Amino acid sequence: MECILGIESTCDETAAAVVLKGEEVLSSVTSRQIDLHRQFGGVVPELASRRHLELIAPVIQEALREAGRSLHEIDAIAVSYGPGLLGAILVGLNTAKAFKIALKKPLIGVSHLEAHLYAAIMGKKALFPALGLVLSGGHTSLVFMEDLSSWKPLGAALDDAIGEAFDKVARLLSLPYPGGPPIEECAARGNKQAFPFKPATLKDRPFDFSYSGLKTSVMHAVSRLELDAEARCNIAASFQHAAFESVRTVLERAVFAYKPASLILGGGVTCNQALRSYIPKEVPTFWPTSPMSIDNAAMVAGLGYHKLAAKPAGDPLALQATPRLPL
Ligand code: KG4
Ligand code: ZN
Repeated sequence: MECILGIESTCDETAAAVVLKGEEVLSSVTSRQIDLHRQFGGVVPELASRRHLELIAPVIQEALREAGRSLHEIDAIAVSYGPGLLGAILVGLNTAKAFKIALKKPLIGVSHLEAHLYAAIMGKKALFPALGLVLSGGHTSLVFMEDLSSWKPLGAALDDAIGEAFDKVARLLSLPYPGGPPIEECAARGNKQAFPFKPATLKDRPFDFSYSGLKTSVMHAVSRLELDAEARCNIAASFQHAAFESVRTVLERAVFAYKPASLILGGGVTCNQALRSYIPKEVPTFWPTSPMSIDNAAMVAGLGYHKLAAKPAGDPLALQATPRLPL
């Protein structure tokens, strides 16, 4: 089971990849739907599903072509079956099941969030136990990982996910979707002390996150001023600082409480270079590269290889799309 075709369609990226032995990426093709959703300031689920349907076959063909492999040279298929948008997941999952039936090859379902964490350690010697933190558009999840496949949840976003907060604040600042990159760029030119935004503190929930109050503070600030370029960058910098301060606080507490051998970070928000200075320095940190931070299928194929090696039980054709798969 060396050569795995990975398929990813849980949100607004249609992606396929061919990966050898869980780490050698022969191809990784991602078709983003940014232009489709930009006018709405966020992902429209129905539109995303329809676009996945149009793109899934050409994206898989392109991944095979770039890898120089025919379908018959693929040993197994790995697919994300959640969490994410139901209609979107179904497109990738049913495509994967169709390949399984037609090719008579093994199929393995993987968690999109576990795959985001795997992206940071792919091809590296990981250090366990670890704290895993996913910072993405749909999730803010902290887990304690004994190893790649056994982990327990420690905390999560109670309201908006961190990437979602970046996207919503970008909209308030009239910056384009997805909001992370333009906010990072604007924040680099702004003064992070200009607005006293405070990260939420959650009583008795030391490892959870909340970003909706912060977003509301930004909304009030925006409504009180003339939004010129300077004000926009100052708000972006102050918001980003407050959002990342909360990441720092939670991680510091978790490092103190769990004494991990490493931190493993994943998800689109980890593209942000400013985030690095907020991560505790006491333990080594594994970061994904930028293309592996955002949704992609190489992380799915890579993790699928390890899951298959563990000889999973059960009928893969019975695998259900699971929009709320926990991490
Ligand atoms: O992991 P991802 O590609 O998709 C999900 O699984 O959600 O994450 C997308 C999120 C978006 O909310 C986007 O605004 C955010 O990642 N993002 C960033 C940056 N680049 C992408 N957030 C902050 N700074 C960035 N540079
Ligand atoms: Zn993701």
